[in-house]
Amino acid sequence: MAYEHLIVTIEEPIAVVTLNRPKSLNALSQAVMGELATALEACDGDPRVRCAVLWGGPRVFAAGADIREFAEQSPGDMIRSYRFLEWERIRRVATPVIAAVSGYALGGGCELAMACDIIIAAETAQFGQPEIQLGVMPGAGGTQRLTRAIGKSRAMEMILTGRSISAQEALAAGLVARVVPVELCLDEAKALAREIASRAPLAVRAAKEAVLQAFETPLAAGVLFERRCFHMLFGTADAAEGIHAFVEKRPAKWTGR
Ligand code: HXC
Repeated sequence: MAYEHLIVTIEEPIAVVTLNRPKSLNALSQAVMGELATALEACDGDPRVRCAVLWGGPRVFAAGADIREFAEQSPGDMIRSYRFLEWERIRRVATPVIAAVSGYALGGGCELAMACDIIIAAETAQFGQPEIQLGVMPGAGGTQRLTRAIGKSRAMEMILTGRSISAQEALAAGLVARVVPVELCLDEAKALAREIASRAPLAVRAAKEAVLQAFETPLAAGVLFERRCFHMLFGTADAAEGIHAFVEKRPAKWTGR
């Protein structure tokens, strides 16, 4: 499928989705978000793809929602628009998605990185929720995901002032998994994606779902969900293969069954 605002390449067994609106610093217009949701959903249905990398190029990840699009919008327009539906579609993607963040990840850009499963940050990355400086507040999960990722006090400081944090601060706060030189950012994310893609596919999907449940349920319900997934995986051919391969001291060959 051809996209106007994205470049999607399949490098089996991973997909690389690049935001491609450099003139507006990858501002996340509704059209961009629609294409992005479609591209990530397509990964779920593509047997060649087991993990996806999302990035915005070396200069900027995304400078937020398209502020120009907001200029003419009333609250009613906002409520009626499909803007948040696209975010819901992305939230439901089953394929693991790694955000490779270089440069600004602001507002919706920070929220998009946090909606991914793992963030790899370049040393140049800056994370922030500057919406308060526009007279609004985060609207695509920022108050929830940032608070869960870095805790109440630091999230409050960022969201109430609009101040950004550096890649190193984001690492110390637990927002990102690692910080790498900018020229290695995409390659590191791709290498991690390939490592994840080399694992048993059904187990990877179930494990992603179970980790995300940690943010949705009380502990007892989450542990029960985990146990059900664990039991389910025991019925798979890949579990039998993985266990026999260990005993026989050979590499496992996954079939995704
Ligand atoms: C539309 C944007 C944009 C944005 C930058 N541009 N950010 N266009 N929406 N979010 C455009 C600029 O207008 C400019 O276009 C070009 O990109 C380059 O930007 P500059 O400002 O000239 O670059 P620079 O001086 O390097 O400053 C970079 C920046 C600044 C610090 C990132 O652009 C900035 O503050 N952007 C806004 C960040 C922000 O507030 N994000 C939150 C948005 S609200 P021209 O045509 O002049 O060259 C949000 C809410 C989400 O995300 C809610 C869920 C839907």
